[in-house]
Amino acid sequence: MKALVTGVKGQLGYDVMKVLEARGYEGVGVDVEDMDITDEAAVRRVIGEVKPDVIVHCAAYTAVDAAEDNVELCRKINVDGTLNIAKQAKELDAKMIYISTDYVFNGQGEEPWEPDDPNKEPLNVYGQSKYDGELAVINTLDKYYIVRISWVFGENGKNFVKTMLRVGKEKGVAKVVDDQIGSPTYTADLAELLVDMAEREEYGTYHATNEGLCSWYEFTKEIYKQAGLDVDLSPCSSDEFPAKANRPSNSRMSKDKLEKHGFKRLPSWQDALSRFLKCIEY
Ligand SMILES: NC(=O)c1ccc[n+]([C@@H]2O[C@H](COP(=O)([O-])OP(=O)(O)OC[C@H]3O[C@@H](n4cnc5c(N)ncnc54)[C@H](OP(=O)(O)O)[C@@H]3O)[C@@H](O)[C@H]2O)c1
Repeated sequence: MKALVTGVKGQLGYDVMKVLEARGYEGVGVDVEDMDITDEAAVRRVIGEVKPDVIVHCAAYTAVDAAEDNVELCRKINVDGTLNIAKQAKELDAKMIYISTDYVFNGQGEEPWEPDDPNKEPLNVYGQSKYDGELAVINTLDKYYIVRISWVFGENGKNFVKTMLRVGKEKGVAKVVDDQIGSPTYTADLAELLVDMAEREEYGTYHATNEGLCSWYEFTKEIYKQAGLDVDLSPCSSDEFPAKANRPSNSRMSKDKLEKHGFKRLPSWQDALSRFLKCIEY
């Protein structure tokens, strides 16, 4: 199997390449310098040259708050860029794996969202762009996976865990919201699942995060506990931390569909965190 991975300089793309290599597959990783996904001609040229069996599309505009002020750029990358890739996948009859987000939902209630729930109501520009990217994939291809993830952390790039470790060490005090509930996703674990998906033909929309639920506050408490940092940590409500983009309070996502189609659930988020902390310097 030959795979083309977009966003290879980001958190997820980096780990997908590692898993492909470990399993003996040929992976071609690209980022914006090699293939700007908003440039349809470049996408056609690069994908036409590589001729992948599967495209794992991890590149995206991921700055959630900045997206509120950069609507056009965000949509160009997340919607038009995704469509450019889907069209080439169609041309080559390649599989496509598109990474999406819990932000496609409105975050109301306390029930876990099902992957095929028809009610999409993104609360912010980034979420709307990722949902419109999903539609671009669905409307172009049959051989696709849409995989919604949340609260991502990985070795290669900035993320919440690294930020909280820095804040804890530098300030010794932190306040974190406890009214948004979800599940962290460790890119090294997710990458294994994505390559499992690439190997098979159980197409459709899935949710994939590490197992278990927590608030951002509970996540932070565990980060400091596992890292052995003595930090004065307190919970607060989202109202105390006004951000540019609205965020969902209910990011619970059902992963039952994974098992129904023979895929393995990811390990618990606490277990993922402990393995992650062994890989990074802090
Ligand atoms: N991070 C999260 O918490 C989260 C949550 C839910 C879903 N997701 C989704 O998960 C996927 C992977 O996220 P991640 O955290 O690994 O992202 P990331 O670390 O931000 O990496 C994304 C990569 O895409 C590149 N990129 C941006 N614009 C591009 C363009 N026009 N052409 C080609 N490449 C471009 C970025 O380059 P630059 O850095 O140079 O811009 C970056 O290397 C994304 O689809 C994201 O929407 C992420």
